[in-house]
Amino acid sequence: MKILVTGGVGYIGSHTLVELSQAGYDFVVYDNLVNSSKIAIDRVYKIIGKDISFEEGDIRDTKRLKEIFAKYDIDSVIHFAGLKAVGESVEKPLYYYDNNVTGTIKLLEIMKEFNCKNIVFSSSATVYGEPKKVPITEDAQTGIGITNPYGRSKYFIEEILKDLYKSDDKWKIAILRYFNPIGAHESSLIGEDPNGIPNNLMPYISQVAVGKLKELQVFGDDYDTKDGTGVRDYIHVVDLAEAHVKALEYLNSQEKLDKPLIVNLGTGKGYSVLELVKTFEKVSKVKVSYNITTRRAGDIAILYANPKKAKDLLGWEAKRDIEQMCRDSWNWQRGNKK
Ligand code: NAD
Ligand code: UFG
Repeated sequence: MKILVTGGVGYIGSHTLVELSQAGYDFVVYDNLVNSSKIAIDRVYKIIGKDISFEEGDIRDTKRLKEIFAKYDIDSVIHFAGLKAVGESVEKPLYYYDNNVTGTIKLLEIMKEFNCKNIVFSSSATVYGEPKKVPITEDAQTGIGITNPYGRSKYFIEEILKDLYKSDDKWKIAILRYFNPIGAHESSLIGEDPNGIPNNLMPYISQVAVGKLKELQVFGDDYDTKDGTGVRDYIHVVDLAEAHVKALEYLNSQEKLDKPLIVNLGTGKGYSVLELVKTFEKVSKVKVSYNITTRRAGDIAILYANPKKAKDLLGWEAKRDIEQMCRDSWNWQRGNKK
């Protein structure tokens, strides 16, 4: 029995392959490499020391997906494949909805055809929109106040998965709402490698630190937060990867679910932009120049998780602290200057 890992060459997927392997799972990776490189597969191989089944392909390509399901005995899917650049999704909404939503529907159709009904889906805290209160729990309202097509694609997929379960309760579905993944594997062999100028805070900070970018633009210091800058729940990518193994174990341990499992994956702690900069400077001993500028459109002031449900149901909680997240991001960036 194998697990199909769509998008497994990407940032979170590649770290999850390591954890799956360590937990004794067998998997096949399916990715069209639109936002990743096969080098990551070679690097994962270096870490785990086992051959990896990799199949290049698009989740929208049903013919190719059928070949994969016919070739391997797949009993579960971890579905990372998707596009994730918020700004690009505003410019190219149809491309995003086609890739993320249509792609997921095609994948689910083929899973159904092959009677594979276990899926772990990569959702995002972005589905909460502007939260009424923090820490946010899974029963908070979703879908209202999402400011971009990327975020809405995640919300739509969540709704599709819930409807699918209602139509057939043999589906075992885990919807994981990630907060802000940062950091890298301690080997520094794999990490986040965004194309072009990074949109997200941590890769931006680390590229300033390594001298690739001049200075960080801090998007606003007039929010109602501890120091006026945005507050987020940063989570180490290896903690996040471990949660996928726990989610799979949970699905496997249940005969049947009474509804899709929905869990937040965060630490429950919020750090501001400036706190992250200061922590990064402390662990790297490198100065990160920054400039305060205006707010970024669509940003919210503060978002962090209540991660209790993940602990209660999955027995999972984040173990790595903010210093380790910064240290591992820095070590990865230093080794991958390009
Ligand atoms: P990533 O871009 O590094 O990885 C996604 C992978 O999916 C890439 O390897 C890409 O080539 C592949 N892919 C994209 N479209 C595909 C398609 N049509 N067919 C096959 N493969 C395809 O991103 P990541 O940070 O590892 O994110 C993984 C998942 O988690 C995504 O669904 C993302 O939306 C979600 N997520 C990420 C974050 C984050 O901050 N990184 C936060 C919340 C949710
Ligand atoms: N920020 C800056 N300067 C930058 C980049 C970011 O000041 O150059 C600030 C933002 O304003 C925000 C914080 O840093 O306050 C974090 O911003 P990110 O772009 O790193 O992350 P977001 O919380 O905006 O969004 C991320 C992903 C989304 C995902 C969401 C889940 O980009 O895809 O986390 O919470 F949905």
